[in-house]
Amino acid sequence: MPLQAGAIVDAMRKRQLGASDLMVSEICLGSWLTYGGAVEHERAEACVAKAFELGIDFIDTANVYSGGAAEEFLGEVLADRPRDSYVLATKLFFPMSETDRGLSREQVAKQIDASLRRLRTDYVDLYQCHRYDWDTPLEETMEALTEVVRQGKARWLGFSEWPEEQIREAQAMAGVEHFVSSQPQYSLIWRGPERDVIPASRELGISQIVWSPLGQGILTGKYLPGQAPPSDSRAAHQRMNYFMDRAEDEALLERVQRLKPVAAGLGLTLAQLALAWVLREENVASAIVGATRPEQVSDNAGAADVSLDGETLAQIDEIIGDRVLYEPPASVGMRD
Ligand SMILES: NC(=O)c1ccc[n+]([C@@H]2O[C@H](COP(=O)([O-])OP(=O)(O)OC[C@H]3O[C@@H](n4cnc5c(N)ncnc54)[C@H](OP(=O)(O)O)[C@@H]3O)[C@@H](O)[C@H]2O)c1
Repeated sequence: MPLQAGAIVDAMRKRQLGASDLMVSEICLGSWLTYGGAVEHERAEACVAKAFELGIDFIDTANVYSGGAAEEFLGEVLADRPRDSYVLATKLFFPMSETDRGLSREQVAKQIDASLRRLRTDYVDLYQCHRYDWDTPLEETMEALTEVVRQGKARWLGFSEWPEEQIREAQAMAGVEHFVSSQPQYSLIWRGPERDVIPASRELGISQIVWSPLGQGILTGKYLPGQAPPSDSRAAHQRMNYFMDRAEDEALLERVQRLKPVAAGLGLTLAQLALAWVLREENVASAIVGATRPEQVSDNAGAADVSLDGETLAQIDEIIGDRVLYEPPASVGMRD
């Protein structure tokens, strides 16, 4: 029987977000490329409904996703749910027009208001800097973000893909609000944050909420070595195929296939194994998944509560071997 709008099934385990009082579901629903974008409205709405039904009440978006349309879509579909029944995160930094970009005082003030308008809410739970802004003094950004929190427009602050030195500088700054979350790319094939951001975050009251934990779908096993991507997949889609060069790495695809029996032996799908892998790290509060269909949301929700033992983790490492990357993803180098 379908649940009423706003109903929460308390089935999914939650984790505390850094030093904040926010509890977030271990699986978060993301909206890059999908909602308000390439996934049609009805299907996108069904994904959000399925997420709530399964206890996923943490939603991630950004002003720039589909040029504002992802926030507009979420504003519409969340409008009938009690505002305190979900945790809403958005971001700013990437260009919204020829002149609107970055993390200056003026932009922070302007972009939060525009996001709140599209999201049809008075506040977001988490306001994140999508990248570091090398053209604005850090102090200016932190003061502007602090103003946003003190005005009640955002409850907590986060960043995505910031360098360790700038993270430490921000957390040490006096008289400003501090960050509670970091949003890096992290998956069993992309482990860069283990080298610097995760150790620093443990010291600094910051949790990770990780993006592309399924490697944009590669870790679901749908991309087979020597074969064209399935016609209904992201890699085959003209508007969603961004930074997907690893779907052409034949050795990687072959090794992902070898993970299938490991997952099956535990009664898991490959997607669940990959998500449980990121959630094994206590500093990860949530894995942000993209989903184009409600069935994918259900599959992914099944990873919450799964614990992988040491033997399984060693087996995964042995199979993936040298296909693990540690350098930052291509999008991190994108400057506005
Ligand atoms: N901070 C940043 O810079 C940044 C960057 C990127 C993303 N993000 C955030 O992270 C979120 C997740 O990123 P992502 O979409 O790349 O993550 P992902 O979960 O690794 O990949 C999502 C894609 O995998 C496929 N998929 C998902 N679950 C599946 C399942 N159970 N079985 C089969 N296929 C499945 C779907 O592709 P198909 O199209 O093939 O169905 C989906 O579009 C974004 O929505 C966004 O909120 C943040």
